Amino acid sequence: TQGAGEALRRWVRRVPDHPVPGVTFLDITPLLGHGPAFRQAVDALAAAVAGLEFDRILAIEARGFLLGAPLAVQLGKGFVPARKPGKLPLTVVRQAYELEYGQAAIEVHRDAIAPGDRVLIVDDVLATGGTSAAAAALVERLGGRVAGFAYLIEIAALDGRRRLGDRPVRVVLRA
Ligand code: PRP
Ligand code: MG
Repeated sequence: TQGAGEALRRWVRRVPDHPVPGVTFLDITPLLGHGPAFRQAVDALAAAVAGLEFDRILAIEARGFLLGAPLAVQLGKGFVPARKPGKLPLTVVRQAYELEYGQAAIEVHRDAIAPGDRVLIVDDVLATGGTSAAAAALVERLGGRVAGFAYLIEIAALDGRRRLGDRPVRVVLRA
């Protein structure tokens, strides 16, 4: 998928010093706004995860939903939303984590993952890996297994992979 990733690069904008000085924000709204690019992105993610065996996709609010949900539909998999605190109505498990710019937490419904479920974690960007490590911890706290991680973009310089253990990490585009 290297070729597909390169073709998508021009649909991602780099915004310096957002949301705080020193952080460069990768803005995928041009990609989302262009039908063929959005489709190519989902197709490229599907190709990137080929060969991984999993039962459902867990994606992280908010930007992870934009790619994780269409990928789940395309692959015929179930979808589990990991949400910001207070949004899910029933019993949840919560995991706190550090962002490049502050503290955060995500929650999933306790009944969203059953023991032994194989879960693919999807997000738009892998930066420091804190968000994804928190998602993986939630899956494992519920007895699930992390089948791998998939991203549209990896910010390689931040080496988020070191937080993800030895599980497969699939990426469409390196920034
Ligand atoms: C961004 C991005 C990833 C995460 C990557 O989300 O969408 O989820 O940060 O960073 P990390 O690898 O350092 O954890 P953000 O928290 O900005 O929220 P959003 O998806 O709701 O916009
Ligand atoms: Mg996010």
